[in-house]
Formats: sequence, C-alpha cells, structure tokens
Amino acid sequence: MGSTHKDLRGKIAIVTGAARGLGKATAEVLANRGAHVIVNDRELADATKAAETISAQGGQATPLAFDVSDVEQVNDGFQRLLAQFHRIDILVNNAGIGDFVSFPEITPEKWDRMLNIHLKGSFNCCQAVLPSMKEREYGKIVNVSSVAGKRGDFSGNAHYTAAKAGMIGLTKSLAGYAAPFGINVNAVAPGLVATNLTDEMSPEWKATTIARIPAGRLGLPEEIGRAIAFLASDDASYIFGETLSVNGGSYMD
Ligand SMILES: NC(=O)c1ccc[n+]([C@@H]2O[C@H](COP(=O)([O-])OP(=O)(O)OC[C@H]3O[C@@H](n4cnc5c(N)ncnc54)[C@H](O)[C@@H]3O)[C@@H](O)[C@H]2O)c1
Repeated sequence: MGSTHKDLRGKIAIVTGAARGLGKATAEVLANRGAHVIVNDRELADATKAAETISAQGGQATPLAFDVSDVEQVNDGFQRLLAQFHRIDILVNNAGIGDFVSFPEITPEKWDRMLNIHLKGSFNCCQAVLPSMKEREYGKIVNVSSVAGKRGDFSGNAHYTAAKAGMIGLTKSLAGYAAPFGINVNAVAPGLVATNLTDEMSPEWKATTIARIPAGRLGLPEEIGRAIAFLASDDASYIFGETLSVNGGSYMD
C-alpha cells in the first residue's frame, strides 16, 4: 500500500506549528491518510490558511491557535478540542523556531525562549493530552527532535541542541510511563529539511551541512511527515521511546 491508504481514518490528530514547513507537511500526510487534523499555530489566520489547503485537497482539518509555550493557552486549547471532538488520538509536537547563532551569542533570554518553545511546549501539550489518552487507553505522541539532539551540532548552537536533546529524554521518560496505558510515545530526528526555518541559515552554514549528508541533498518536509505518520499509526504499535533518524544518512546511531 502506498502513502495514500486510509489507515488513519477516524483518528483525531493535532499537529503543533502546522501553518507551514514540516508541521504543515505532516498535517497533510495525516489528513491524506484519513485523519481529521487539528492545525495549530500561534496565529489563527495562519492555521486557518493551512487548514483550508488541506480541506481543498479533500482532507478534514480544523484550525486552532495557541502558543505552545504558554501553559494556559495550551490547556484552554486542548479543553476546547476535547469538548468538540471528545478525544485526541495523535499529538505531534512539532512547533519550533530556529536561531542560528553560536555559543557566545546565546543570551539567557534566547536560551529561555528556545527551551520554552521546544521542550516546555512539548511538555505542556503532553500534559494536556495525556489524561484523555489514558482514559481511553489509546494514544500516539510523536515529538519532533532533530539530528542536532542526537549528534550535537557543529557550530555551538547549544540552546537549540539542548532543547532537541531534551525532547529525546522527554520522549523516553514519558514512553515508559505511558506504555502501560496503551500510549506510544516516540520521536523523529530530522536532518536538514528545506523549510523557512533553514532559509534563515547563512549560505556557508547550509553548504557545510549539505556536504556532510550522504544522500547529497536536503530532506523534503513530506519525507519527515511520512516518518511521523508511521510512528503515529498502529504499524508502530510495539515501538516505544524511539527517536527515528530521518536525515539522509548524515548521522547513523
Ligand atoms: N527544517 C529543518 O531542517 C529541521 C530539522 C530538524 C528539526 N526541525 C524541527 O522541525 C520543527 C518544524 O520546523 P520547520 O523547519 O518546519 O520550521 P518553520 O519555521 O517552517 O515552521 C515552524 C512553525 O512553528 C510555529 N511555531 C513557532 N513557535 C510556536 C509556538 N510557540 N506555538 C505554536 N506554534 C509555533 C511557527 O509559527 C511555524 O508555523 C521544529 O521543531 C524544528 O526544530 C526542523
């Protein structure tokens, strides 16, 4: 079966930071496989635009705005979601930012912002979704880490790398806790993917990175989306706490 089989039909999925980039591609893959996708982003207008694209392609999508780093906004968003859909089957913690600076330029404010969005944001959403998943004894959580979180980066981009490594720890810890409740928690670690985020890199930074990718190219957002969809599906029912590399061979562990 190809990627268009409808194995996620009837599932309710939320993808954070899904207005563009990897999140949008993931939302499209999940919708294409039959899920009703909640498209989250910070601004309702951006989430709505992405949801409309999915609907125009024949998928089911609903926009929902909140900032993942704001626990009150997250809890309110999930409450509204549960009131409307009565369950959430799949949570993809994708929302994130890039900040391509080296170690000396990382101010305490930059450190906090990075950790708050990636790591605390994922924690906030996991906390908000878990009780309902436990009650139903079903759930799939996929955290979007990075090759940087596994291997480290080459440039002292320590706040991003620490946040992404933290997400791997969060994934393993929560996976052990949640497995007895029928919940799979896993992660993906993408290599460099062509998105707005990587557009912010300097040409030198990008060229150095591509030179280290055996596949010889950047990844496509949908290639990450398909890996996430696999972990979010029942095909991955016996996988717990794994961080799946999707990186063109740039790091093999
Ligand atoms: N592009 C890559 O090469 C790459 C590689 C590895 C991992 N990642 C990770 O993939 C994820 C998506 O990256 P992308 O390349 O698609 O980036 P992107 O900048 O294209 O998209 C990120 C989306 O997240 C949203 N977002 C940011 N902060 C948010 C918040 N606090 N609350 C809700 N939404 C928020 C943005 O508005 C945007 O729509 C990130 O976690 C990133 O770290 C990307």
